[in-house]
Amino acid sequence: MRILVTGAAGFIGAAVAERLCVRGDEVLGIDSVNDYYQVSLKRDRVAHVEGSAGGRFAFKQVDFADWSALSAALEGESFDRIVHVGAQAGVRYSLENPRAYVEANLMGHLNLLEVARARGSSHMVYASSSSVYGGNEKLPFAVEDRVDHPVSLYAATKRADELMSETYAHLYGIPLTGLRFFTVYGPWGRPDMAAWLFTEAILKGEPIKVFNQGEMWRDFTYIDDIVAGVLACVDNPPADDGAPKAGGSTKVHALYNIGNHRSEKLTRVIELIEDACGRKAEVQLLPMQPGDVARTYADIDAIQRDLGYQPTTRIEDGIPKFVAWYREYHGV
Ligand SMILES: NC(=O)c1ccc[n+]([C@@H]2O[C@H](COP(=O)([O-])OP(=O)(O)OC[C@H]3O[C@@H](n4cnc5c(N)ncnc54)[C@H](O)[C@@H]3O)[C@@H](O)[C@H]2O)c1
Repeated sequence: MRILVTGAAGFIGAAVAERLCVRGDEVLGIDSVNDYYQVSLKRDRVAHVEGSAGGRFAFKQVDFADWSALSAALEGESFDRIVHVGAQAGVRYSLENPRAYVEANLMGHLNLLEVARARGSSHMVYASSSSVYGGNEKLPFAVEDRVDHPVSLYAATKRADELMSETYAHLYGIPLTGLRFFTVYGPWGRPDMAAWLFTEAILKGEPIKVFNQGEMWRDFTYIDDIVAGVLACVDNPPADDGAPKAGGSTKVHALYNIGNHRSEKLTRVIELIEDACGRKAEVQLLPMQPGDVARTYADIDAIQRDLGYQPTTRIEDGIPKFVAWYREYHGV
C-alpha cells in the first residue's frame, strides 16, 4: 500500500512512517516543519526515516491548513490510506496561541477529510487525544464516556475533529478511525513533554517543575506500542455494516483509546528518570496549571477486543530506553 502520513516530521508521524516503510509499505510524508519546537529535531527525524525506509519514503514540506498548497502538493500523488497525525499539539501552548490550534486542528483536519473524500480514500486513521476526557472523574476513561467538557482549547479542537469525522462518515461513507493517544514517550520524543523536560533538566542540574503539588498521574504509552496500535487500525477499517462501533457510531467511524492501561504517578516517573540519569532531581512543587488535568488512565478494552491490541512496554523499561536515546542524540 502507499500511505499518506501527515505530521511525518513529528514524533508519532515519523515513527509510524518508519514502521510502515520497514514492513514494506510506501509512505508519502507531509509536514510544515513548523517551529513550535526545534526544527532541527524534525529534520533529523525525517533523515532518520529516510535512512531506514529503503527508498520507500517520500517527503514534502507543506502546510495542510492551506488548501491550495495542500492540493498542489498532492497533485499527481496516489495513496490508498491516510494516517493524519499532524496537528498543533500541546495543552499549555493552546492558552498562549489559540489560533494555531484552530488553523492546524480544525482547518487542517477538514482539509484532510476533504482529501479523503476527493480521493475516495479507503480509510483515514487520525489522532485525537486523551485530553478530550477533560476533568472526567470516572476512571479509567472509556470511549463510551461523555466528553463534552474540555478544559483546554487543544482538547476542544480534538473533540471537534471527532465530530467532523462523524459527519463525514455519515455523509460520504468514508471509513475513519480516531485514536485518543495517552501521553506518548520514547526515542525521538517531543521536547515540550514531561519525559524530555525532566531528563533535560536533571542532566543539566536544573530544577524540574511538577504541577498540582506532585498529585499528577498519567497513562504513559511507549512509542512502539502507539505505532503498533496505529498500524493495527490502518489495516482494519471499521466495517460498513450499521453495527455500533467503538465510541458508539453506527457509521464507518470507530474511536479507540491507545494507552498503557496503567496510571503512573509523576513522582514515580521522576524516580525512574533519576535512576536512568544517575542523578537526583531538584523538584519544584507548583499549583495546578490552567487547562491541565490531574489524572489520565486509559480503558483499552475496545481496541483489545476489536484489534487484539496489547501494550508490551512497562514504564520501568521504556524510561531507560528514552533516556539512553536522549543522551546519545545530545552527546551528554
Ligand atoms: N505525543 C502525545 O503524547 C500525544 C498525546 C495525545 C495526542 N497526540 C496527538 O498525536 C498527534 C501527533 O503528535 P506528536 O506528539 O507526534 O506531535 P508533534 O508536534 O511532534 O508532531 C506534529 C507534526 O505536525 C506538524 N504540523 C503541525 N501543523 C501542521 C500543518 N498545518 N501542516 C503540516 N504539518 C503540520 C508539525 O510540524 C509536527 O511535525 C497530534 O495530533 C497530537 O495532537 C499526541
